[in-house]
Amino acid sequence: MSTIAQVGTSGSMPSRRMTVRDIAARKSAGRTAEPIVCLTAYTAPMARFMDKHVDLLLVGDSVGMVVYGMETTLGVTLDMMIEHGKAVVRGSTHACVIVDMPFGSYQASPAEAFKACARVMAETGCAGIKLEGGREMAETVHFLTSRGIPVMGHVGLTPQSVNQLGGYRARGRTNAEADDIVADAAAIASAGAFSVVVEGTVEPVARSITGVIDVPTIGIGASPACDGQILVAEDILGLFGTFTPKFVKRYAELGEAVSEAVARYAADVRARRFPGPEQVFGAGTKGKRG
Ligand code: KIV
Repeated sequence: MSTIAQVGTSGSMPSRRMTVRDIAARKSAGRTAEPIVCLTAYTAPMARFMDKHVDLLLVGDSVGMVVYGMETTLGVTLDMMIEHGKAVVRGSTHACVIVDMPFGSYQASPAEAFKACARVMAETGCAGIKLEGGREMAETVHFLTSRGIPVMGHVGLTPQSVNQLGGYRARGRTNAEADDIVADAAAIASAGAFSVVVEGTVEPVARSITGVIDVPTIGIGASPACDGQILVAEDILGLFGTFTPKFVKRYAELGEAVSEAVARYAADVRARRFPGPEQVFGAGTKGKRG
């Protein structure tokens, strides 16, 4: 991915691709004036639709659940993340693209993490990686960031630890748990992360992390006080499942639109209304495709 000027975009957005430094710099003078807009993306066409509206596209390991129908994110592999990362980089020219490191690819040791992250960076062209974890991952975050790999942290409800956490409940309800999450975020930020995702915490915990660390917090089920917000794109578009988590706001019902459009297509085919004269090649005509 090039940091050289590439395309013009609307509004106050720069006319080149956003970098991790641009994201971090939003908080350079205390509270982020303009919140950082982030969404997940897994494919080139979706990246293309969202690119000019957002600051950051995260190729989340939620791809396992949203695209592949997995129960959790634990089955996602490095190869899957690399292919989806490549697609999102190809489909975007403006947003900073960050790729999630999948479960098992970075926890064993800083050196193992470096190898996996270096593959993701080299093969996808993304701007950085995201990994889950708190104080136990600080050494790895330092190892990576001091070797040229920008890291986005992820604390609070960390889905790769769903078995350890016993479910997807909001975290930080006791003082001890709240203190732990704040300490986790502080450790990851001090280790060199350029921003930290705070997921599924009670609101005051995310608010206090945002006040304590000097890199941007990106909230999901967290707090309006966070320096930015992220959601799974399919959740806000009505393209994923029937269950909408409390922290999601629906901006469209595209799943229903897909179903309705397919029903009309099916009815046309069954009634021999499709293809019509405009959709067939007459002798001597040249089609757009094929
Ligand atoms: O995998 C993912 O999509 C994520 C976020 C939504 C933060 O980690």
